[in-house]
Amino acid sequence: MPSPQTLHAFLRSRRSVRRFMARAVPRDVIARVLDTARWAPSAHNRQPWRFVVLSRDGAARRALAEAMTTAFRRDLEADGLPQNEIEARVARARQRLLEAPVAIVLAADRATMDAYPDPRRQRAEHIMMVQSAALAGLQLLLAAHAEGLAGVWTCGPLFVPELVRQVLALPATWEPQALFFLGYPARIPEPPPRHDLDEIVWWR
Ligand SMILES: Cc1cc2nc3c(=O)[nH]c(=O)nc-3n(C[C@H](O)[C@H](O)[C@H](O)COP(=O)(O)O)c2cc1C
Repeated sequence: MPSPQTLHAFLRSRRSVRRFMARAVPRDVIARVLDTARWAPSAHNRQPWRFVVLSRDGAARRALAEAMTTAFRRDLEADGLPQNEIEARVARARQRLLEAPVAIVLAADRATMDAYPDPRRQRAEHIMMVQSAALAGLQLLLAAHAEGLAGVWTCGPLFVPELVRQVLALPATWEPQALFFLGYPARIPEPPPRHDLDEIVWWR
């Protein structure tokens, strides 16, 4: 087992990376990353996470890029952004989706949840499911980091869950949570700042 110092340094050195080398990521490496992601903790050990790996040149990836960027454009137009800014942002989103060596949708399966008769406990149960899926997302990023890959969590599917479900023909109970891009990093960015411990921790 590596020393605590080595492990802390490893955890702190994971960065969100948005630019990748063209080099393909072997399928067995992606499988290892997902194999470790599923060891995240989950409420009732229900393991609500589901992953959809979108192959680099597959029809599903192209269809998702088209649908998501169309919806993104509609939102930006509704926000009243200048047309040139809309075009630039939409083009960037499309390019990222089409060109990232690996793209993985993370969904959470509502079918894994306990059912309660009252909204208070049902809401808590739903939050637990989403929290559990998010932990698998972090574990995925850390496992990718362990492989010398890097990547980023993106939240686009949260804004258009029904669209993502339709385009990828996902079961009705799967709630899209995130879209991960992974690859061999073109460059590791500087670490974004963190709040100091004394700003975020209360000792009582
Ligand atoms: C829930 C969540 C949603 C995020 N959504 C996006 C996103 O849509 N686009 C993006 O470029 N980065 C996204 N990020 C990455 C964050 O911007 C990044 O984690 C943060 O700036 C800290 O940088 P670091 O990950 O390198 O430490 C998201 C991260 C999380 C946890």
